[in-house]
Amino acid sequence: MAVALLVAAGSGERLGADRPKAFVVLGGRPMLEWSLEALRAAGIADIVVALPEGWAAPEGCAGVTGGATRSESVRAALAAAPADDAVVVHDAARPLVTPEHFTAALAALADADCAIAAAPMTDTIKEAGPDRLVLATLDRSRLWAIQTPQAFRRPALERALGAGEDVLAQATDDAWLVERTGGTVRVVESTPANLKVTTPYDLRIAEHLLADRLPRPPAH
Ligand code: CTP
Ligand code: MG
Repeated sequence: MAVALLVAAGSGERLGADRPKAFVVLGGRPMLEWSLEALRAAGIADIVVALPEGWAAPEGCAGVTGGATRSESVRAALAAAPADDAVVVHDAARPLVTPEHFTAALAALADADCAIAAAPMTDTIKEAGPDRLVLATLDRSRLWAIQTPQAFRRPALERALGAGEDVLAQATDDAWLVERTGGTVRVVESTPANLKVTTPYDLRIAEHLLADRLPRPPAH
């Protein structure tokens, strides 16, 4: 079976709320509760949450205090996790995740060390120099916007997180740490709806998308 690491230890500086981002109320409950519900619906019961200093773990989860960077929070949560063969890492900042995101990422571990939710790019992407002159137009059909969940065979994640603090500080996702240690990483198609709440604008979009999920009162 798989264990889940839910990283929720960030401060949410860009959101600018009165509390850490994972605890901001969204659709009537703290943001991290949406991810916990999806994890449980996927049949994943072992969950370790990386938390900001002084915040208690949600009921039924183990809690650890996170680190100074996201990767250090992942590492702290992994150290407290039971010895399952597969580990799925998810950002509490992606409350629109579905149970299928977790099951699809875990299933894709059958032939890869790591499997990551990713949305095909819809924008045209260009590379520009410091002078803002365009150097290249990239082939969009090969580009993916990377999300979480990210699933790992446990030894691959342990090896990846063994990197020095300087490398961990540069990592914006754990899959990159697997890539640089020679592991195989597979993308699993997701949609842009699994958005990351970063700014107040994102929070408003998430609020609308979650409202669509709530059962509607019966029509009279
Ligand atoms: N995270 C974490 N530990 C950190 C930094 C981030 O557990 N030291 C988590 C966040 O709680 C979030 C996820 O990593 O669920 C993605 O990070 P991000 O969206 O950048 O969240 P914050 O770091 O909280 O936001 P900001 O960068 O605006 O401060
Ligand atoms: Mg951050």
